[in-house]
Order: sequence, then structure tokens, then C-alpha cells
Amino acid sequence: MTVVAPLIGVLALAAVSAAGARIGLTTLFCVVIPYAAILVFLIGVVWRVLSWARRPTPFNITTTCGQQHSLRWIQSSPLENPHTRLGVIGRVLLEVLLFRSLFRNVKHEFVSRENAAPRLAYKASPWLWLGALAFHYSFLVVFVRHYRFFSEPTPRSLQIVEMLDGFFQIGSPTIFVSGFVLLAAATFLLLRRLLLPQLRYISLPVDYFPLFLVIGIALTGILMRYTAFRTDTAAVKNLCIGLMQFKPPAATEPIGAIFFVHLTLVSCLFAYLPYSKLSHMMGVWLSPTRNLIGASRMRRHINPWNYPVAVHTYEEYENEWRDKMKAAGIPVDKE
Ligand code: HEM
Repeated sequence: MTVVAPLIGVLALAAVSAAGARIGLTTLFCVVIPYAAILVFLIGVVWRVLSWARRPTPFNITTTCGQQHSLRWIQSSPLENPHTRLGVIGRVLLEVLLFRSLFRNVKHEFVSRENAAPRLAYKASPWLWLGALAFHYSFLVVFVRHYRFFSEPTPRSLQIVEMLDGFFQIGSPTIFVSGFVLLAAATFLLLRRLLLPQLRYISLPVDYFPLFLVIGIALTGILMRYTAFRTDTAAVKNLCIGLMQFKPPAATEPIGAIFFVHLTLVSCLFAYLPYSKLSHMMGVWLSPTRNLIGASRMRRHINPWNYPVAVHTYEEYENEWRDKMKAAGIPVDKE
């Protein structure tokens, strides 16, 4: 059920939108649902970010992967445990752009030895990192390339991206590598969950649902571009520019059921994003173990909402009880 329920969910979305296309519910599927999805997305983003921003950070959380800067003769680790703002920017950027902590994801297993007890060994495990990089970067390129539907004329910078992505051209239409890489990477991430027993054990429907959504989006997109399911891209562009200007065309030319499925899955992905684990896209920037300066040995971190506490110092205590303490033979600081 863990795998089947999200799969059925995505297939149901596809079936409903294809049926909507058949009975001519163009306004509902091409205007109302995309607008509603953007609204739900924006509300979700604001809610998420505000709720994270409200979380207290009473301590300076220093990650101890590397030595913090302290004494001159101890070598510090400026990227693992940066004590400057520049170091923190470097750490966050390496995390966001290269998924650095994922790169250090190692696999451990028992290696049997002759006449000796098995030994625990650590090995590099770069496949998840490579798959994740391929997935995210291809998604970014595909996403950026779609801007051509929303702009007239297509900006020069976008034409350059299209040219680089389409270097593999062997005919018409130009083959965009990123679309296929996206499909392959999402399928790899899905198979990894399905085929590795340990991973399947900890996977939940919410882990499968976004993968099925992305696979559905990439698959319908590829079908639209390279197969007999081709859509009228001029009509799509007309619709997208209308939506951008809040003037959706009153009667859209028939675009094809596959486009309805593509757009409904995209709308669902957007509406779902801020409320799901996909929000890591925003959260990584606000992660305290990445963005706090490891300078707790150099500077005292004062809890920002500390309120004044009425304390009774030892000095005051002794002043109060000095006579009695002396009479009882208890040593005092001041005679
Ligand atoms: C999360 C956002 C989206 C993703 C990941 C995505 C993915 C894809 C992919 C992989 C393709 C195959 C061709 C290519 O590589 O460009 C494609 C094609 C297509 N997509 Fe999307 N898409 C997204 C959003 C949209 C939106 C918002 C629209 C329109 C409102 C749209 C309309 C189309 C159309 C019309 C095609 C066929 C392109 C052609 O024939 O040249 N897509 N999409």
C-alpha cells in the first residue's frame, strides 16, 4: 500500500484531467487549477518561512565535524566549522550547489576476514549523490527552459540554455538532454527506494508520491515533445502569456489531453511543495547547523530573548549572613 496508494493517486489525477480534456473543461484545468495551485503554493511558502523564522535558536549550534577556531596552534577547519561569515557562506553554498553533506554519505558493512571476526568497513557511496545532483540540476534546466512559454520573444539567455541543452540535436524537434536526464534520475531514485530492502522499509507514501509526480510530469512532457501526442505549442504559449497577464484567453484552442495531464500534475506538485518534504528546497537556507558561525569559543552567545533574572550573588549572601557564618566557624571571603 505504501507504494500503490501514491501511484494510484497520481494515476487518478492523470485520469481525471484527461477526462476533463475530453469533456471540454478547459477553463477548470488550464486556468482555475493552475491559479489555485500558485495561490496554495504562495500561502504555503509564507507560512513555512514564517514558522521557521519563529523557531528559537537559543544556542549557537556548532557542528563538530571539524575543529573550531580557538587556539593558534590547533588547526581549525574553516569549512566544516567556519568562524567567519565568509566561511559560513562557503559552507551554505557548497551544500546548496553541490550537496556536500550528501557526498559524505558513506556505506558501512561487515567485511568477513579469514580466521578473524568480521570487521566493520566504511566505503564511499557516491550513487545517491550523483543521482540527486542529476535530478536537481536537470529539473532546474527543464524548469528554466519552460520560461519560453511565458515570454515573447524568448530571451537571448534562454536561447543559449536551449542551445547547450540541445547540443545532441539529430533532427527535429531538438532533443533536450535535461528532460531525459530528469526522467532517468527520478526513476533511479524510485528504484533505489523500491529495490534496497533497508530503504524500502523506511519509505513512506510521502516519499513515493513526489517521485511519481515528477516521473509523470517528465513522461507526459517527453510524450508531448517527441511523439505523436505533440501539442500545439503556440496555443500553450498563448495560454501561458494570458495567465501571466491575468487575462486568460476566453476560448483556448484545443490543446490535447496530454497537456491537461502535464499541467495538472505540475499544479499538484507546486501546491504540494511547501507542505511536504520538498520544502527542504527553502529550508536548507535556514538550517542552523549550516548557517550559524562556529565561534562559540571566541564570542559568548547570549540567548536573544533572555529576560533579566533576579539573582542573589554569593557576595550578597555573605554580606547577609557573615556574622552568623563567622560565629559558626564557616570561612568567609571578606572579614
Ligand atoms: C515543474 C514544472 C515542469 C516540469 C518539470 C516539466 C517537464 C517537462 C519535460 C521534461 C518536458 C519534455 C521536453 C523538454 O525537455 O522540455 C516538457 C515538455 C512540455 N511542457 Fe513541461 N514541465 C513543467 C511545467 C510546465 C508548464 C507549467 C507548462 C505549461 C503551462 C508546460 C508545458 C509543456 C509543453 C507544452 C511541453 C512540450 C514542449 C514541446 O513540445 O516543445 N510544462 N515538460
